[in-house]
Amino acid sequence: MSTSPWWRDAVIYQIYPRSFADADGDGIGDLPGITSRLEHLRDLGVDAVWLSPFYVSPQNDGGYDVADFRDVDPLFGTLADIDALLDRAHRLGLRVIVDLVPNHSSSEHAWFRAALAAAPGSPERARYVFRDGRGEQGERPPNNWVSNFGGPAWTRVTEPDGRPGQYYLHLFDSSQPDFDWTNGEVHEEFESILRFWLDRGVDGFRVDVAHGLVKAEGLPDADLSIDPHVDTTTLLPMWDQPGVHDIYRRWRSIVDEYSEDLVDVWGDDADRVLCAEAWVQPSAALSRYVRPDELHQSFNFGYLMTPWIAADLRYSIADSLEATETVGAPQTWVLSNHDVVRHASRFGYPQRPGLARMPGIGADDPQPDTELGLRRARAATALMLALPGSAYLYQGEELGLPEVTRLPDDARQDPSWERSGHTDRGRDGCRVPLPWSADAPSFGFGPGDDSWLPQPDEFGPLAVDRQDGTEGSTLELYRKLLLLRRSRAMGRGGLSWIDGQGDDVVAFQISSGELDTVVIANLGAADLPLPDHLTVLVSSGTHDGDRVPPDTTVWARRAHGT
Ligand code: GLC
Repeated sequence: MSTSPWWRDAVIYQIYPRSFADADGDGIGDLPGITSRLEHLRDLGVDAVWLSPFYVSPQNDGGYDVADFRDVDPLFGTLADIDALLDRAHRLGLRVIVDLVPNHSSSEHAWFRAALAAAPGSPERARYVFRDGRGEQGERPPNNWVSNFGGPAWTRVTEPDGRPGQYYLHLFDSSQPDFDWTNGEVHEEFESILRFWLDRGVDGFRVDVAHGLVKAEGLPDADLSIDPHVDTTTLLPMWDQPGVHDIYRRWRSIVDEYSEDLVDVWGDDADRVLCAEAWVQPSAALSRYVRPDELHQSFNFGYLMTPWIAADLRYSIADSLEATETVGAPQTWVLSNHDVVRHASRFGYPQRPGLARMPGIGADDPQPDTELGLRRARAATALMLALPGSAYLYQGEELGLPEVTRLPDDARQDPSWERSGHTDRGRDGCRVPLPWSADAPSFGFGPGDDSWLPQPDEFGPLAVDRQDGTEGSTLELYRKLLLLRRSRAMGRGGLSWIDGQGDDVVAFQISSGELDTVVIANLGAADLPLPDHLTVLVSSGTHDGDRVPPDTTVWARRAHGT
């Protein structure tokens, strides 16, 4: 086993399979499409890919509603296609992490169908969270919890005899019933699912809703005034319950059993990894998920929610590093994913201090300043990729793709739009299929015109073939940053702050062995003179030699340094 394993500084690229590349032309991306485009990721310079779900699913929540955890949905291909993808990726030097969705299944899952057909109190119902309603006729849900997508978190079933019956819990869509993790059978099932995919050769798992599996005993009412994404103090009865950690200790021991299995592919650096999707604040609480015998990584959503304001970023970076250092884990950094407004658009709005998760954007909402957003996004990425630890990229950010803010409302597919009574535009705007070729039908996403969400005209000039080899393009910037990050071992480095540059500047040095890299991000409104002993290695924007323009990040070395 490696003493300095790959995942400690890996750059991991998220693929949302529906929207990456479509080989069969049905307008929905698929596994052969992904396999055919893996060279793009090798050339980008990432270490690993994470695939959002491709399992059998009615696709009510983009595949996060899984009906069979051990098979591929025909929309995406077959098990043979995933084997081919793994093989090709490994040959290209790319690890592959898959999504594990243990909080809930689809209502089409065989277990849930059996639960509906069985009686209250039966072992079939005990795999999910079924409860009687409150009130004389059970007319009120068992508690006041609300779904993450809006509306109540409980749905009442019709019993096999035709009468209104019990309720089942769903923290997300009503087609995503929550498992009951007090039931040993659920534990056994997921341990077996982990082994199924480990045996097939995946390099790890991203654990969906990792903070939600265990609910407080008795399912007490919750304080609905609290936003669990940003609150830093209050423990809600459905999130971050201490019992989740026992599950992760067990899973860690399982993946560790497999860390010698892929030695013919990776030599002695063959760890399989687990990364938590846990919207938990503050950082110290989140770091409990990555104690030495638990998960390897956890997404740093505090960083993702930090505005483009120097003081906020300095705080977030220092606080994040301190939290994971305390438990000996690497920190992770992320700016975009399939659940949030793309950072090229978030940063195109006026920035306000404090953490915030921005709702989806519609055509009648205020629109972002696209040019400003892209300039800041490039600077933000250059800042992020300099930080020690591991970084996650979301497909299309390497092209500088904006959020698609003018999708027709009748094209929207995210359940949040319906469940919120058309108040939350949801997450479709960051899920629009990628542009590969400016002049091809569907911008090269597939062989024909079809694309499950309409692509806007602005995607044309941003297509991969327009940016490839084009000096100053966002794609070339990402490639350069990733190359330098690797050659200067920045992900393994130590960070020391450089003070005295002004309130609107984030400046630090990353030291790794003999190499020191100075990183300066100018978030102010005026040019910042570059100290004259520095030679710029890369700039996120235009750079005339001795100044760092507004909303620009540079990496530099000292004149006599390496
Ligand atoms: C996670 C996924 C999100 C999904 C939800 C329910 O938050 O990232 O896309 O809707 O879990 O599975």
